[in-house]
Amino acid sequence: MTDRAAIADALASIADPAGGDIVATGRAAGIVARDDGSAGLVLGLDGLDAAAAERLHAAVEVAVRRVPGVTSVRIVTTAERGAGAPLRTGPVPGVRTVVAVASGKGGVGKSTVAVNLAVALGRRGLAVGLLDADIYGPSVPTLLGLTGRGQLDGKRLVPATAFGIKALSMGMMTDPAKAVIWRGPMAASAMTQMIEAGDWGVLDVLVVDLPPGTGDIQLTLAQKIKPTGAVIVSTPQDLALIDARRGIAMFVEVGVPVIGLVENMSSFVCPACGVATDIFGHGGAETAAADAGIAFLGRLPLDLRVRLASDAGMPPAAGEGVIADAFAALAAKVAAGLRI
Ligand SMILES: Nc1ncnc2c1ncn2[C@@H]1O[C@H](COP(=O)(O)OP(=O)(O)OP(=O)(O)O)[C@@H](O)[C@H]1O
Ligand SMILES: [Mg+2]
Repeated sequence: MTDRAAIADALASIADPAGGDIVATGRAAGIVARDDGSAGLVLGLDGLDAAAAERLHAAVEVAVRRVPGVTSVRIVTTAERGAGAPLRTGPVPGVRTVVAVASGKGGVGKSTVAVNLAVALGRRGLAVGLLDADIYGPSVPTLLGLTGRGQLDGKRLVPATAFGIKALSMGMMTDPAKAVIWRGPMAASAMTQMIEAGDWGVLDVLVVDLPPGTGDIQLTLAQKIKPTGAVIVSTPQDLALIDARRGIAMFVEVGVPVIGLVENMSSFVCPACGVATDIFGHGGAETAAADAGIAFLGRLPLDLRVRLASDAGMPPAAGEGVIADAFAALAAKVAAGLRI
């Protein structure tokens, strides 16, 4: 049985953008709690722009769902002039957008890009989550310098917080020294569980770091979580580009919009002499993006500092300088692609 007072309490913890809390101001009203665990309320969206309305709606949904005993929630929205924009009620309550970072090939820097993109999006003032969907070879704990184990709060997994973002990884659940041996479908369901049981709160964007290739995890993510968009990572090398095209094709086939292609490990600038060398060729990724009819999101340099900072658990996007700037520029393009 659900307690109406408990729902009202939970709602009273949410600030009304116009001041006060949403119960006191009457923005949240008509609260109902039924014996079967379903809950409902009326939410007034007067005076809020589309983004603020969407945030408030998500915050309310998350707060009510977290009340013990609540199994479902129905929110009826009202606006004075009926001008409320359509609200996204995606597969993950409270999570406004999901961006998948993928590549066909391994080792091209997906995890590096995913982590630094997430940190850079956070620096733009967005509420960001990061899900490490590489069940077999999780690298997010290393890249964010996370050493603690994952915590459970009831049935929800509590993400770690680092560099202004929330992160969940199988590496926080398992012994890093032991191999995780799971069949594809099991790994895929572990990934969806981490997303759905994650105590993310309200997020503007959830960044998903995918394992290499186009297997069960990628397909399950595409079909069940339905990302808002995908970012494809490639090196300028021909071989990597062929795999990048395969990655693009997969997302197109399952109806996930591709936000664009980012070229990682672009020019190498010699720290000793300052000469730039295109170790993996030049311009390949931009041409491949144009051929595939998708946006080119820019180049990230091959720089020893990226590797060193990453290994030390200090994402370069959290710092200052040319590398942080490159990730900030990428984040701006991705945010524009997601319309957040
Ligand atoms: N721009 C860069 N400059 C220097 N080193 C980089 C750069 N990008 C990635 N690396 C390094 O390359 C290695 C592989 O990167 P990363 O783990 O991000 O790749 P990945 O595509 O996620 O790999 P996997 O397919 O195994 O998941 C790491 O050691 C990382 O620090
Ligand atoms: Mg990786």
